[in-house]
Amino acid sequence: MNTVRNRWLLFWSLAAVWLLYAGGCRPSDPEPATPPAPGYELTVPRNFPAPKFTFGENPITKDGVELGRFLFFDPRLSSSGTIACGTCHRQLFAFADHGHDKSHGVNDRRGERNTPALQNLAFMPDFMWDGGVTHIDFSPLNAIQNPAEMDETVASILDKLKNTPAYKPKFRAAFGNDSITSQRMLRALSQFMGLMVSSNSKYDNYVRGENGIALNGSETAGLRLFQQKCASCHATDLFTDHSFRNNGLDATPADLGRERITNNPADRGKFRVPSLRNVERTSPYMHDGRFVTLNDVLNHYASEVKDSPTLDPLLKQNGRLGIPLTAQEKQDIIAFLKTLTDPSFLVDKRFADPIGTANQR
Ligand code: HEC
Ligand code: HEC
Repeated sequence: MNTVRNRWLLFWSLAAVWLLYAGGCRPSDPEPATPPAPGYELTVPRNFPAPKFTFGENPITKDGVELGRFLFFDPRLSSSGTIACGTCHRQLFAFADHGHDKSHGVNDRRGERNTPALQNLAFMPDFMWDGGVTHIDFSPLNAIQNPAEMDETVASILDKLKNTPAYKPKFRAAFGNDSITSQRMLRALSQFMGLMVSSNSKYDNYVRGENGIALNGSETAGLRLFQQKCASCHATDLFTDHSFRNNGLDATPADLGRERITNNPADRGKFRVPSLRNVERTSPYMHDGRFVTLNDVLNHYASEVKDSPTLDPLLKQNGRLGIPLTAQEKQDIIAFLKTLTDPSFLVDKRFADPIGTANQR
């Protein structure tokens, strides 16, 4: 595994160096041509913690987001010309990949992990199941260069974009002139993804006291149970404390998780606590997509947690593995989890596929 880790470290440091020098910090970049338009600024919902990323050097603009949207749904970003970001990250499923346990990339190659939802990324300190990426601008590189995903190089993508007449005006509108660089491409994708805030679920309306929305009996019972049994890890209204933990999926994990990044055996089998927003839509679940239903997930916590040296202590209290849950309690928790679905996010036109190719497979 050392070699895997070293390969990744080398890859990220090369990527960073290359971006700084080739992609270019260009102090003379003209200001974006368009001032912020309504609906295109990062709004912080009242019940959310402060954002981790505020787009200081990359202010969100309507044209920047629009460029990001075209890039996100453009299959030119893959070597085969068939896989867009939006092929795996599908809006109707909160930008997770419904129906695939692990990702499917070019030539139907299988990736190693489940495609996570993309939402509220500006509030996340790090990305990927193992936290291997710590800046939103770098988050697309993993998929672009991974042979099992888009299997492409940034240089080749830039060539393709330069040869596609529609892109010049879009780069000009977003960044002030025609120049098509890696830094601008990544920044436009960051603006697009950073604007994806999901905060209008029934639960949000309820906690913010909006529109007279109340939870029903089962949902209220589920919320209480969730607060007692789940919220120590799935914390705050983002439903994650951003930590890396082993929730007992395997006694001997096939995927080392956080250990891949830290090389520390104490991190074996630890994965980022995922947000549970829109969780009704993001099946299958866990880093490897092993569970299809929320019921499977609750059965796991109630009676299938596996012991190992890195199992989270919260899942082994008083010598008992897992979280005791009756059938009724499982049902109530699921009713509560479904109040986290944000229908407006799933059809928000600002994030919709403008090309129509990404969802055809
Ligand atoms: C073949 C499927 C696939 C494609 C195509 C793809 N991704 Fe992903 N994406 C994934 C998987 C799988 C992960 C999780 C990887 C991991 O944890 O190691 C991921 C993770 C991410 C994350 C981190 C999310 C989080 O919450 O940590 C972002 C952001 C992201 N992708 C953006 C993009 C962008 C932008 C593109 C297009 C350039 C793209 N992805 C293309 C499968 C894909
Ligand atoms: C000890 C911390 C911890 C506790 C307590 C905990 N979880 Fe989790 N949860 C995690 C971690 C870590 C993952 C990701 C594990 C992985 O993919 O390997 C996860 C994943 C999930 C997922 C899958 C989400 C996805 O996008 O794939 C759901 C659903 C979930 N938890 C619900 C719950 C519920 C409901 C409870 C309470 C009954 C609960 N969790 C308690 C840490 C915890």
